[in-house]
Amino acid sequence: MKLTHDSIERNVGLLMIGIVLVIIWGGLLEIVPLFFQKSTTTPVAGLKPYDAVRLAGRDIYIREGCYNCHSQMIRPFRAETERYGHYSVAGEFVYDHPFQWGSKRTGPDLHRVGGRYSDEWHRAHLTNPRDVVPESNMPAYAFLDKSKANSAIIGAKMGALRMVGVPYTDADIAGASKLVEGKSELDVLVAYLQGLGLEMKGVK
Ligand code: HEC
Repeated sequence: MKLTHDSIERNVGLLMIGIVLVIIWGGLLEIVPLFFQKSTTTPVAGLKPYDAVRLAGRDIYIREGCYNCHSQMIRPFRAETERYGHYSVAGEFVYDHPFQWGSKRTGPDLHRVGGRYSDEWHRAHLTNPRDVVPESNMPAYAFLDKSKANSAIIGAKMGALRMVGVPYTDADIAGASKLVEGKSELDVLVAYLQGLGLEMKGVK
């Protein structure tokens, strides 16, 4: 059988193989260059890897599924930048494994929430959102204040992140569990939130 346009379209098996090949090729063309493009691999000025406390907070954010209601991805539209600040750029996420862009906004975007409120506001809000935003339908996370953040594994986590390219030093890893020890899950989550998106905060 000759491989003509006609014969491929009439043969379901061949057509499927063809479709898969085209998708693979197109996907590779779109995705592979991102690993080498400067704009996606170079950290923005001032970006540092999460310290141990914020990294522990990020784990709570992921465990509690905050990303189901909150994005961390400000799109380059006026309505978004007026509300949240500079749109998100890839260089802000180079140390995020995995990133927390999310895709649903039941609540507001959180990418630049760092520094917008006081620590006390966040504690009150997470303990019972209705206390500070009466119309809120965000769940209460009062229990976070009652359990300690896991300090035992945080150094190992940083070691794993180092393997995928996050520049933690031996000293960072050695001192990690001490920094987290004794802090509640609420403490570390608030620390995580308070550092979000600061690098490009005043950038226009
Ligand atoms: C069921 C959806 C839902 C979930 C899950 C959720 N939130 Fe929210 N969140 C909201 C809504 C709605 C608002 C807006 C009302 C308010 O401020 O409470 C909000 C507001 C916020 C704000 C204030 C943002 C601003 O700019 O005013 C922060 C911070 C926040 N959430 C953090 C979190 C964290 C951290 C978690 C996970 C522990 C979480 N949220 C889980 C729905 C949710």
